[in-house]
Amino acid sequence: MDWIHPFNWLLCVSVCECWRLARSLPALHGVVQSPQFPQPYPAALSQQWDLSVPEGYQLQLSFTHLDIEPSADCYYDSLTVLYDKKVLAGFCGQENSADGHHPGNRPLLSPGNRLTLVLQTDDTNPEPHQHLGFSAHYQAKDIDECSAPDPEDSSGPLCSQICHNTLGSYMCSCRHGYELRPDQRTCVLSCGGGIFDEPEGTLSSPGYPDPSPHGLACQYVISVEPGFIVTLNFTDSFHIEHIGTQNGPSCLYHWLQVSIPDKEPQKLCGVRSPGLMPTNSYTVQLNYHTDWAGLSQGWSLHYTTQRVQCAPPSSITNGRVTPNFPQYYYRDYIQVRCDPGYKLMMDGREIKSYASMCQKNGQWHLSLPECHIIDCGEPEKLLNGGVRFISGSQNQHLSVIQYYCNEPFYSLLGGATVSYTCAADRTWRDNLDTPVIPSCIPVCGQPTMSISGFQRVMGGDKAPDKTIPWQVMLSVDGGRGGAMVIGDRWIMTAAHNLVQQDKLVLKEKVRVFVGDNDAEKLAKLTPLGVTSLHPHPEYKNTDSANYNHDSALIKLQQPLTFQAAIMPLCLPPENATYNIGQIGMVSGFGIKEDDTIANDLRYILLPVVKEDECQDSVNRAKAATSTKKIPVLTVNMFCAGVPEGGKDSCMGDSGGAYVLRDSITKRFWAAGIVSWGVGCGQTGRYGVYTRVAKYISWINKTMEDNK
Ligand SMILES: *[C@@H]1O[C@H](CO)[C@@H](O)[C@H](O)[C@H]1NC(C)=O
Ligand SMILES: *[C@@H]1O[C@H](CO)[C@@H](O)[C@H](O)[C@H]1NC(C)=O
Ligand SMILES: *[C@@H]1O[C@H](CO)[C@@H](O)[C@H](O)[C@H]1NC(C)=O
Repeated sequence: MDWIHPFNWLLCVSVCECWRLARSLPALHGVVQSPQFPQPYPAALSQQWDLSVPEGYQLQLSFTHLDIEPSADCYYDSLTVLYDKKVLAGFCGQENSADGHHPGNRPLLSPGNRLTLVLQTDDTNPEPHQHLGFSAHYQAKDIDECSAPDPEDSSGPLCSQICHNTLGSYMCSCRHGYELRPDQRTCVLSCGGGIFDEPEGTLSSPGYPDPSPHGLACQYVISVEPGFIVTLNFTDSFHIEHIGTQNGPSCLYHWLQVSIPDKEPQKLCGVRSPGLMPTNSYTVQLNYHTDWAGLSQGWSLHYTTQRVQCAPPSSITNGRVTPNFPQYYYRDYIQVRCDPGYKLMMDGREIKSYASMCQKNGQWHLSLPECHIIDCGEPEKLLNGGVRFISGSQNQHLSVIQYYCNEPFYSLLGGATVSYTCAADRTWRDNLDTPVIPSCIPVCGQPTMSISGFQRVMGGDKAPDKTIPWQVMLSVDGGRGGAMVIGDRWIMTAAHNLVQQDKLVLKEKVRVFVGDNDAEKLAKLTPLGVTSLHPHPEYKNTDSANYNHDSALIKLQQPLTFQAAIMPLCLPPENATYNIGQIGMVSGFGIKEDDTIANDLRYILLPVVKEDECQDSVNRAKAATSTKKIPVLTVNMFCAGVPEGGKDSCMGDSGGAYVLRDSITKRFWAAGIVSWGVGCGQTGRYGVYTRVAKYISWINKTMEDNK
């Protein structure tokens, strides 16, 4: 019957679901009337109305009009009001009539949200005027569930603590410190659970120190910053119901479960406090469970957090870990430095620096390095010398080496240090901390073999081996000449050996031989390569009558390595004086007295001749020979020889050295270059030599310019 809401029919036109909607949502109020009201109701009627309002409300019925044939006990016509088949009331009669039973103005309240009305009429109506029936209004009336008496089934009050009545319903809530159980009805002491993220805190069982309520399922989560670990410290008063077994307490009904990630959860119960409980974790979950029986006095704990610790690094051989702390915690850094002379090595590779951090998992992020001794590598080689190890090994730190030169052909520059130590910067350093190695300079004018009786006996002879190691045999375009070694890349000779008809010979035509006193043997050797020829720039001997500046230098391609058979001559200081009468030595493969070309290197000892005497000799030669041009004697020349003749340098000796020996150092120095003469060894004639001391700055400059 949908007469309650006539609009629903209208609604149905557009909303097809309306039928169900109307049925499922009873209205909050409505009107009910007898058939044909306000016309008299028909006879022989039995009609029933089932009224309802939404759940949670009571239905209140108020009659606005009731006019039903009165009879005793409403025997004939009646309107019966029922609730669940239980008759609440039966009505008939009229307002203020003595007969029948009229509801008056008092509304009728159903015990529930439903009410049934039944109108019954008999088939006769004895009275002349007909009765109109009834009209009533009904509405939903809110029930105050909270004030209802406790149900009789001993399940306790509706709300165990606080009840709030609401329209059509009610809500339970709990006093402070309690929380509503899932049944939404009963309260239990609050677990005080939740997430504990402070660095420290206190947790205890609900109601502690009172015994724990029954039926608890409390969860506590301690979750602090990663890199910290939680330590639980249970107080002594600890009591959780347990079943004693042979293997200790069994937490069968009550327990406190401690769950740590990656570990088996642990159930605690019994009467002994677990005391201090390190967890090694930054999160811990505690679940406290009690069932509906038994007694647990409860527990309490204080938790603290500590920074995660990393194991102290082990000590490093030949190195140091800094800083040195008794303990290392999360985010602490360590560095490793090696002692001086040691280097950081990791995984077989050298590293510049090392730093490692203690991570939140308690592990160092890098494993420790090692300190290996450094080495300076092979010491630099010393040309014409060597290096010997004094102490240490494998060129390691603090090894000491010593440089030496190949004596007696080379010597260290005076004052040079020879000891070098492998320093922490991996270089070999001397005691002045310089890494530059010394150099070996050639020893000049000191043959290993000497001509016995030199400077006492005047005379020429075959030169014993190695007595004149500066001697050079020149072969220029087939002609033979002499020269002298003055440096490891420099040969000095007479300019006239290299300049023919005012023209410099090709350097390829100049063959330089050193190292033997046997000309034939020498000639079979590979000549030394020539880089360049440097005749003195002022040498101009157009008509073979001007031997002024008869000097020249030859630069070799490869430096000579000096040894007993090849050694340089010393050069004199600039403008050095030549003592008249001092015996010098001239050597060469030139023409012998018998006018044959010498195969063996020969030498003659000849004194320096006074300039006047030499000039006189030249003048005399000029006077005697009108046809021949006699060259001019200049200050750049000097003479050597004996007045009686027979001893002289000669053709083929040209360019060779006339040497004098320093009385103090006993070294031979290049005093002259065999230049010219009028004949060879004639009486009253002398050999003329280029005065080397006049050319020192030119020699220096030429060498400098052609390095
Ligand atoms: C644990 O708590 C007790 C007090 O209950 C206290 O005496 C003890 O020092 C605490 N231990 C630690 C390591 O904090
Ligand atoms: C060498 O002599 C020349 C010429 O007489 C002169 O110019 C030069 O200064 C002298 N050198 C030395 C070092 O005495
Ligand atoms: C020539 O050079 C040497 C070293 O190279 C030097 O000792 C000497 O003084 C120089 N002589 C002249 C005259 O420049």
